Amino acid sequence: MFNVLTLNKIAKCGTDRLGDNYNVSDQCDAPEAVLVRSASMHEMEMPESLLAIARAGAGVNNIPIKDCAEKGIVVFNSPGANANAVKELVIAGLLMSSRKIVSGIEWAKTLKGNGDQVGKMVEKGKSNFAGPEITGKTLGIIGLGAIGIKVANAASALGMSVVGCDPYLSDANKAKLNDCTIVETNDDVYKVADYITVHVPLNDGTRGMINSESIDKMKDGVRILNYSRDGLVVSADILSALNSGKMSAYVTDFATDDILGEEGVIAMPHLGASTPESEDNCAIMAADEVKDYLENGNIVNSVNLPCVSKDKTGGTRVCVIAKADVNVEDVKKATGSEDVAVGTRGDFCYMIIDNATSSQVDVEGVIRVRTL
Ligand code: MLT
Repeated sequence: MFNVLTLNKIAKCGTDRLGDNYNVSDQCDAPEAVLVRSASMHEMEMPESLLAIARAGAGVNNIPIKDCAEKGIVVFNSPGANANAVKELVIAGLLMSSRKIVSGIEWAKTLKGNGDQVGKMVEKGKSNFAGPEITGKTLGIIGLGAIGIKVANAASALGMSVVGCDPYLSDANKAKLNDCTIVETNDDVYKVADYITVHVPLNDGTRGMINSESIDKMKDGVRILNYSRDGLVVSADILSALNSGKMSAYVTDFATDDILGEEGVIAMPHLGASTPESEDNCAIMAADEVKDYLENGNIVNSVNLPCVSKDKTGGTRVCVIAKADVNVEDVKKATGSEDVAVGTRGDFCYMIIDNATSSQVDVEGVIRVRTL
């Protein structure tokens, strides 16, 4: 029996996939796995029993992924599972950044109580809420992963020119783009885009990337959309660009105290993935990843350890998480088997060994050994 701790509400269609051999609860002392959405795990003491954490969502900034790898805990995410939900809200954000939809609706509410005068007042006041069309304008996309690609294709279908930048763009993802000019650097995006949407993870390389320096390189009147993470922008620099007129609008899915209520800001309460479809998709993907790891040792969609899967070829399966410089030949000798799948990623290595005759792996650099 495996214990699975849920730190947020996880859709039942996902947890049901785990089956009878799993005890899923929001309270359990010695979990083998954690399923989490946005709850922060940075202050959490990781129990000795913990083997895997699956994030039902894309961003993993709520999980200390490097520390987890050092402890032999695999962290998974659910790439693409909520991409359509986020894409739809980005398109809504694009239109809200352009047409004065939010302020217009707010203003219309203030007319309540004016009886049959409302129609006249609307016609008189509506000129304050005009805004440009998006067709024919240029959308710049920073980050062409699962979400960025869907946004690119939807925007080009709406008649926008699309320019995108992603140094990690895979050939498979590139092939999915319908009509997008790929440029080398973010600066190449900044100088041509009327609208910019950011779809990158928050990490030390991206934190604060939208700041006064990058904003200076953008077109006057640029509109920025941030459905990724609040930490990607320097709020004070956004506000001063809005104030000076350099930026026309900032639409974000991260309502933080420093920007709420400020002129030109449209802030939503992190609704990007809040659709029943995406909650189901994320829960299913996260549960499947955990199950495959706990039962078979296969790692798919990990964000901190190498992704390695192996068809079972018989006998005892031994799974070894180690430092990248571990001597693989010594591990093979220790387990008495050459039947091994190996992967490395950054500082870490993962091996799945079948037909092992021993699970005693006293080799330098080994972090965790599991026998299945
Ligand atoms: C994600 O990281 O997947 C999105 O921001 C949605 C979420 O956090 O649930």
